Amino acid sequence: MSAKTVLVTGAVGEMGHQLLPALADAGYEIVALDLAVLPPDLIGYCKESVETSITETGRVRGLLDRHRPELVFHLAALLSASAERKPSLAHKVNVGGTVALLQLCQEQARATGRSIRFMFPSSIAVYGLPDQAAKEQAGAVLEHQWAQPTGMYGCNKLYGELLGTYYSNHSPHAGDAGIDFRAIRFPGLISADTVPTGGTSDYGPEMIHAAARSQAYSCFVREDSRLPFMTMPDAVDGFMRLAFADEAALSTRVYNIKAFSPTAGEFRDKVLDYFPQADIRFEPVPARQAIVDSWPGDVDDSRARQDWGFNPRHDFNGAMEEYVLPALKKRYPAGA
Ligand code: SER
Repeated sequence: MSAKTVLVTGAVGEMGHQLLPALADAGYEIVALDLAVLPPDLIGYCKESVETSITETGRVRGLLDRHRPELVFHLAALLSASAERKPSLAHKVNVGGTVALLQLCQEQARATGRSIRFMFPSSIAVYGLPDQAAKEQAGAVLEHQWAQPTGMYGCNKLYGELLGTYYSNHSPHAGDAGIDFRAIRFPGLISADTVPTGGTSDYGPEMIHAAARSQAYSCFVREDSRLPFMTMPDAVDGFMRLAFADEAALSTRVYNIKAFSPTAGEFRDKVLDYFPQADIRFEPVPARQAIVDSWPGDVDDSRARQDWGFNPRHDFNGAMEEYVLPALKKRYPAGA
C-alpha cells in the first residue's frame, strides 16, 4: 500500500489522457480501470490497470483492497449522446457504477480510518432550460438555477452529485472516516490529443479535428447554438486544483467552470481563421439540437474563482494559438 495512491476509473477516455500525467507529476501512484486496454502512452503511468466495467463490483473491490487509494477520480461514464441511444445502459453505468463505487469507498474509509477524496466530473447537462427564449434570458446560470435536466446523462450526473453529497454527509457510524466528495460541472471540452466520441458538445472539437485533417464537416447543431467551452488542460488543471483545495475554503461540493461561450457559428469562424480552407456546413439533427437547446449558453463560475482560485489560462484565441494548433501540428503533420 502506498501513502499516495489514486484510482482513476474510465482512465482511457479523453480526460484520462491528460489527467494521468498530471497526477503522476503530482507524485501519485496511479491505479486505473477502464473497459478498454490502456494505450502504450498511458500504461507507463500506472502501477496496475484493470480492464473491466465499473459495474463489475467484485473486480473494483479487489483493486481497492490491493491499493487502498486516498483519492479517486471517477471518470467512467457514458456521455450524453451515447446515453440517449442506450438509456438503460447509461443508468446502469452512470448511476449504478457511481453508487457502488461510493459504497466501496465508504467501506474502505471505515476500514482504514482514512477518508477518501472522491472527484466527480459532472456536466452542464445537469441543467435543463425549457426553450430558446428561456436559454437566452437565463444567460450565465448559477449552480442552483435550472437544475432540471431533460436528458438521461444530465439526470444521471445530477443524481451522482446528490449521491456523492449524501455519502459525504452520512456514515453508518458517527465519527468514522468517510468520503469527501467534490464535483465540477464541466462545459464542452476541447482536446487536441484525442477525438471526442459520444458527447453532444463534440461538434466544437470535431470541427477543429476535421479542419486539421482537411476533411469536410457537417455540424449537427444550428449556427446560433451557444454553449460554454474550455480546453482540456484548463479542465484538468481545475479538477486538480479542486482536489487539493483546502476543505475550509469550499462553500459547496459542486462547482461550475468555463472559459468562453461561442455559438457554433463563432466556432466555425474561429476555425476558419486558422484553417481558411475548412469546409464546415450546418445540418442540424433534431434530437441532438434539442439537447443543446436545453443546456445553458453560459455558466457563472464565480464560486470556483472565489473559493479555490479557478482561473483558466486559455481564452478562445489562446486555446487555438497556445494549445490546439501546436498539438495538432504534431498529431496531423501533413494537415495542420
Ligand atoms: N461534453 C459532454 C457531452 O457532450 C457534456 O458534459 O456529453
